[in-house]
Amino acid sequence: MSILVTGARGAVARKLASLLSARGIAHRLGSREPDTPGTVRCDLSDPATFPEALAGARSVFLYAEASGIGAFVKEAAAAGVEHVVLLSSSAVLAPAAADNPLAAAHRAVEETLLASPLRTTLLRPGSFATNALGWAGPLRAGAPVRLPYPGAHTDPVHEADLAEAAYAVLTDPARAGRAYTLTGPQSLTFADQLSLLGRALGRPVPYETVTAEQWRAEVAAFIPATYADALIEHWAAADGVPAALTDHVSQLTGRPARSFGTWAEDHADDFRNAEDPGPLARTGASGKGE
Ligand SMILES: NC(=O)c1ccc[n+]([C@@H]2O[C@H](COP(=O)([O-])OP(=O)(O)OC[C@H]3O[C@@H](n4cnc5c(N)ncnc54)[C@H](OP(=O)(O)O)[C@@H]3O)[C@@H](O)[C@H]2O)c1
Repeated sequence: MSILVTGARGAVARKLASLLSARGIAHRLGSREPDTPGTVRCDLSDPATFPEALAGARSVFLYAEASGIGAFVKEAAAAGVEHVVLLSSSAVLAPAAADNPLAAAHRAVEETLLASPLRTTLLRPGSFATNALGWAGPLRAGAPVRLPYPGAHTDPVHEADLAEAAYAVLTDPARAGRAYTLTGPQSLTFADQLSLLGRALGRPVPYETVTAEQWRAEVAAFIPATYADALIEHWAAADGVPAALTDHVSQLTGRPARSFGTWAEDHADDFRNAEDPGPLARTGASGKGE
């Protein structure tokens, strides 16, 4: 079995590649910008990159890129691929999915795969815990995080759980060919998440509530307006409304989904600057046996 892992620079693909390597499972990494030896160029919006990436692959871990999906399916079938595991999104399940550009793009990829001869497994994550990395800039600078909806709930899921779920469906044919909705174990507001981050960092993490218009203007340089609008709409609907949770991560991995508190501890260094050595150093503890 050889597996093509697309989106190799992404957090989920990197964790998945480590799992496959640790268990000696043959795989190839594909990325828009191959930056490690052995990684091939695979830009899912550029069909010219598909033949080399797909040569010899029997399974694919696929990021959802709608623009090249028709060509990708044709090339994959011709190359002898049998199974595709798509990193989709639970946004496709929302009642107004067709009107939301993020959800609609994932839906288009799902539909093309499901209409193809390729066996398709759909992983539909809720909100990635890694979205919190967007707060690293202000936190490192000691500034409050600016949030339009601090009370909006999400279901943050750890990238390690997504990678382990992908590993399970790629390596166990009995789990393939289905759709899984992958959430974290708790519905948490953004304010809850910042409080858990503060606990992991050993210092309070302040936030400021801003209007949707202020937030849109502040992110305009790096989030396209249609996506910013879709996020605002999503957070407004989730304000004070707990997210629906599933146990699909534990069904696939055999153990409970990791909490956001665990994610915060795993990523605490991403939120510290050089002058902030962390709570153990601040209290004089060594962290070993104390
Ligand atoms: N963030 C969330 O809360 C969330 C929730 C549900 C679903 N998702 C989906 O999960 C995926 C990753 O999201 P993210 O927020 O972690 O990261 P992101 O910054 O949106 O995307 C980074 C990842 O996408 C890959 N990628 C993007 N365009 C590509 C293309 N044209 N061809 C091949 N790979 C491409 C990148 O791979 P290379 O740079 O290596 O090419 C990288 O692995 C997206 O499809 C997103 O819609 C995200």
